[in-house]
Amino acid sequence: MFNKTKAYKKLAKHYKEIGQKHLRDLFEADERRGHKFSVKTEHLYFDFSRQRATEETISLLAELAKESDLAGKLQAMFSGQKINKTENRAVLHTALRNRKNDPVMVDGLDVMPGINEVLGQIERFSGEVLSCQRTGVTGKKFKNIVSIGIGGSYLGPEYFAVALRPYAQPGMNLVFIANIDGTDFEEKTASLDPEETLVIIVSKTFTTAETMHNARTAKKWFLAGLKNNPEAIKKHFVAVSTAKEKVEAFGIDPQNMFGFWDWVGGRFSATSAVGVLPLSLYLGFENVRYILEGAHWLDNHCRNTPVEKNIPVLSALLDIWNINFLGLTTRALLPYAQGLAKLAAHTQQVEMESNGKSVDLDGNKLEYETGEIVFGEPGTNGQHSFYQLLHQGTQIVPCDFIGFITPQYQYDKDLLTKVTHHEELMTNFFAQPDALAFGKDDSNPAKVFPGNRPSSSLLLDALTPFTAGLLLAWTEHRTAVKGFIWGINSFDQEGVQLGKVLGVEHRERIIDYYNKTEYDPCGLTDSTNQLLSLFLKGKL
Ligand code: F6P
Repeated sequence: MFNKTKAYKKLAKHYKEIGQKHLRDLFEADERRGHKFSVKTEHLYFDFSRQRATEETISLLAELAKESDLAGKLQAMFSGQKINKTENRAVLHTALRNRKNDPVMVDGLDVMPGINEVLGQIERFSGEVLSCQRTGVTGKKFKNIVSIGIGGSYLGPEYFAVALRPYAQPGMNLVFIANIDGTDFEEKTASLDPEETLVIIVSKTFTTAETMHNARTAKKWFLAGLKNNPEAIKKHFVAVSTAKEKVEAFGIDPQNMFGFWDWVGGRFSATSAVGVLPLSLYLGFENVRYILEGAHWLDNHCRNTPVEKNIPVLSALLDIWNINFLGLTTRALLPYAQGLAKLAAHTQQVEMESNGKSVDLDGNKLEYETGEIVFGEPGTNGQHSFYQLLHQGTQIVPCDFIGFITPQYQYDKDLLTKVTHHEELMTNFFAQPDALAFGKDDSNPAKVFPGNRPSSSLLLDALTPFTAGLLLAWTEHRTAVKGFIWGINSFDQEGVQLGKVLGVEHRERIIDYYNKTEYDPCGLTDSTNQLLSLFLKGKL
């Protein structure tokens, strides 16, 4: 167990010695701290000098990684071993973007030919749609892509779509319908012409209640809009799934199904057909190839770089330092780029669904914290919202700042401030970490900034398909590394089941009520009973 390792004990002792040291003192003691606590690679610069750590902390964290056999566990993941023990599955999202194309074996079979086949299928299909070789049932060009899916079948692709809007193919529009709330369906389809719309049903299992309900509503919407033309569904609906029979039963032509495999976890599926298909239709296949290359670059960096220079591994180890030793269990993700508006939402699923676990791989109850609460907003919006708490609140929240040297859109310098939008934006990226770390004294207690609030800064050249892919992989590996060190299974998600089961029971109660104007309250507390009966009555 993590807390029984020698390195854990050393770190706990080390925390007692240095834990209270102020970042002001750490910087004052070493004028080259910024150089020492940073890593520069071809594509990203990672500065962790504002973490409350010393050189000894980093070397003890590296010891922890070694004692936990992190290298062996990463190797087991990359090489296709069945590390998702509870589901007896390999965890191979890295194979999806293995641009080197060397064999990756699962159960004695190389998975690469299958991956390449689906990529080829998507390249052809998206090319046909974008060049109008493939059109709607009335011959109109597909201009709107509606991707219906939820959780991992939505958050990663949406993160990319928002990040890469400037790369969209002319005239193409990509929308996502995830929530079962009819408002989502209504608002996303209100302005769409079914004749110009292609629907992708994205569901690994093809059973998820929200997705299948939205998919059925989409079918009705199409048939109504296309005069019940029986060809409509065949021409306008495609699927991304691992469940071929269910896709066919829904009425989708199996030729128009794009597969993936059980060794791709939902929240790790953005670089499978789940993301590649909608994004190829929106951005063009070439741009998606760059996404895969960016993710692959980071995969290689994670696989081959020693701990001290390994950005996702260092990020994870510093998270562990903050969570398990400093007791800081919430993290703010603060990209200074509007394009990364959906990075926090995607990261929430990856981190919280993966590592929100209370038992280890053998089912033993854990005696230490795992997981972390992640939230975030693009700068500078967050500054005018929750940064007050970050700077002066009683809770300390480690922050990740992400910035870019070149913006997606360049504007001339403002006549008044003499700087561009991007320069103004980046002034904040430079200012906020220092304000958090060093604070400010004042005779007025309300104006005191205590400082000593840890953060890391990640600087990249520009937000492109390549770097968006790289950031996705950074998030994925950071999460997996923590799970490996905590000794938990980061790749299952039993915690989402109970609510689903109880929801199905309520569905039965609602049906009963409409059939017999009563329902069986058996097993319900008076609280739930009251809420449900008010709902069924139709008004308060
Ligand atoms: O919420 C649980 C979950 O299983 C996620 O892990 C997954 O990403 C999501 O539901 C969607 O599942 P599917 O792709 O099978 O519809």
